[in-house]
Parts: sequence; structure tokens; C-alpha cells
Amino acid sequence: MDWSSKTVLVTGGCSFIGSHLVEALVERGARVRVVDDLSSGVRENIDQAMRSGRVEFEEADLLDPRTAAHAVSGINIVFHLAATHGGRGFISTHQAACSTNLALDAIVFREAQRAGVEHLTFASSGCVYPTSLQEDPTEIVYLTEDMVKPPYEADDMYGWAKLMAELSLRAYHEEMGFKCASVRYFTAYGERCPANHAVIAMIGRAFLKQDPFIVWGTGEQIRNWTYVSDIVEGTIRAAERIEDGSAVNLGTMERTSVNQAARMILDRCGLDAELKPDVTKPTGPYNRVADNSLARRLLDWEPKVPFAEGLDRTIRWYFNEHDREVVSKVFEESLTERGLESVRR
Ligand SMILES: NC(=O)c1ccc[n+]([C@@H]2O[C@H](COP(=O)([O-])OP(=O)(O)OC[C@H]3O[C@@H](n4cnc5c(N)ncnc54)[C@H](O)[C@@H]3O)[C@@H](O)[C@H]2O)c1
Repeated sequence: MDWSSKTVLVTGGCSFIGSHLVEALVERGARVRVVDDLSSGVRENIDQAMRSGRVEFEEADLLDPRTAAHAVSGINIVFHLAATHGGRGFISTHQAACSTNLALDAIVFREAQRAGVEHLTFASSGCVYPTSLQEDPTEIVYLTEDMVKPPYEADDMYGWAKLMAELSLRAYHEEMGFKCASVRYFTAYGERCPANHAVIAMIGRAFLKQDPFIVWGTGEQIRNWTYVSDIVEGTIRAAERIEDGSAVNLGTMERTSVNQAARMILDRCGLDAELKPDVTKPTGPYNRVADNSLARRLLDWEPKVPFAEGLDRTIRWYFNEHDREVVSKVFEESLTERGLESVRR
């Protein structure tokens, strides 16, 4: 796609992933409109992109249909990332808040289709997969896209809303020919990721030199942490290559337990703390790893950044960007709440 001829809307563009996406689109020559209510996004996340002169920012709530209609006017391509979302600590403890995504997604899709937008890519999630397939960490399971099917069994209200949005988009394509794609992100991490996500929470604990070092759940939970630049590359390729509303996994196939990740972080930070599981905390499924062969086939995409390398970069960013005194004051709250990311230093 010739991005230099496109005007692109990134909803939620001040978020962790959204801000990296905005930068990648600017690099490709696109003009970008960011609409974000800053409920968890941080305006400074797009500072660098704004300096290109190719980005306009509007602080607004897309739950208002008139705002959404205004946001999509004159737009060729939409990336819809705005959501009430956080890591496991947030989504498990805020079901009602996450239910607003049902309305938000419906409004954005309706206004984009009405405005004649050429293509919309939706940020979906591994949370659309049946939780019963993800219970046993000793089993080697890779989730393939076709496992999301009736009778459906999504993960928390957040996952159900992502699933409903995927199904809505497919209907928009089938009934109206609307060109669209859903990308199922698996446990993204990297620079600007908030502390309600496990890897950042663990880096934060190391930053605060916590000992014993608290791990949520037994620590045996398996994840496939996927670095943000890989997530962004797959998202842009989906916009270029998928038109029929298909959903595709974006995730590595590296299987890493929370305990392994904790030890990798402690090693890199030169600490020798004792891991202490806390099984009263939200953990999510115990075995979640994507199969990424569909993305390889449809998008010619593969993850480029191994977990060990992405972790080094993320730790470097965290230690450079945060202040110990400030972090220690908001740390516990930041594990389950959103919107505290502007408080770093
Ligand atoms: N981070 C992950 O591991 C992950 C995994 C799966 C899916 N996702 C999805 O990717 C997207 C980006 O997530 P993220 O982790 O970068 O950060 P995030 O969840 O903080 O991003 C959401 C953004 O949307 C904005 N927003 C929320 N409600 C809004 C509204 N009504 N109007 C306008 N803006 C609004 C927020 O301020 C924020 O900038 C989200 O849709 C999320 O559900 C993320």
C-alpha cells in the first residue's frame, strides 16, 4: 500500500501499542489523526510522532457517536485500538468498565462504514479463545484461529467484547462489503507498556528491589510475550492484505512461564530475590500461546524480536524513564488500575 497517499485514523493512538503504530505509519509516509480520551493513553507517547508535522491529535471520547463521526470524516484507513483495557490485573477486576467496549466498537464500526472508510483494522486479543483450552500449563497447546467457534467461551467481559467486535466486523463485510481485519494480539510488551501488564509489573518489582519477589498465581502460567514492534508490523500488514474480516493471531510461539520471566528479569537486574507466589491474585489462563502459522501465510509476517532481546530493551527503557520514589507511591494501585502511566518520574 502507498501509505503516503493515505490519511489514517488511529483510535487510542496515545496508548502503548497505539503510539508505536502511529510512529510506524508516519515512517511509511501516512498522515495520521489520533483520537484518544487519554483515559489510559498518555499524550507524551506521541510527542516524537507529532514533531513530524504529519500527526494531528484530538482529545475526545469516541463513545459519543458525533465524536466518532467527526473522527472518521475524511479518513481512508482506520486502526481501531481505543478500548477500556489494561493487563490481567485490570480486566479481571473491572468487568463493568470493560462492557463499555461493546458500545465503543459498535459506534466506531458504524461510523467508519457510513463515512466510506476504505479499510478498518481492529485490535482484538487472545482473550477471544476458549478458556477451557488453556487450563493446563504442562500441555503443549498452540491456539489456532479456527478454535474460536460456537458455542464460544471468551475470557472475561473484555474477551467477550473483543469477540463480539470480531463477529460484528465479519457481518459488516458479508452484508455490506466493508473491508476489514481483526488482529488478535497476544500479551504485548515493550516500551511505554503500563504496569498492569505482568512483564512491566515484574520489572517494576525489580526496580523497587522487592524481596521476596511477589509473583501472581503459582507462576507456572505460560505466555508468549510478543514485542511491540512485531505487533505493529503485523497490524499494518493486516490492513494491507486482509479485506474479508478474518481474524489473525499476532504472537510468538515462544513458551515462557511467569516464573521463568521473573528469573530472567532478576538476573538482568543483578538481583537474587526469592520468588513468592500469591495465588489470591488474578492470573488469567494457565496456558496461552498462539499458533502464528496463519499470519506467516496471509501476512508473510513472523516475530523478529525474541523475548530475551525485547526484555533487555524494555528493562532499559523502564529504568531510564522511571523514578523510584514516584513508582513506589503508585505501584500497588498501578497493578490493577489504568491511567497512572503519566506518573513515572
Ligand atoms: N497490550 C496488550 O497486550 C494487548 C493485548 C490484546 C489486545 N490489546 C488491545 O490493543 C489496544 C491497545 O492497547 P494498549 O495495551 O496499547 O493500551 P490501552 O489499553 O491503554 O489502549 C487503549 C487506548 O484507548 C484510549 N481510549 C479508551 N477509551 C476511549 C474512548 N472512549 N475514546 C477515545 N479513546 C479511548 C485510551 O486512552 C488508550 O490510549 C486495545 O484495544 C487493547 O484491547 C492489547
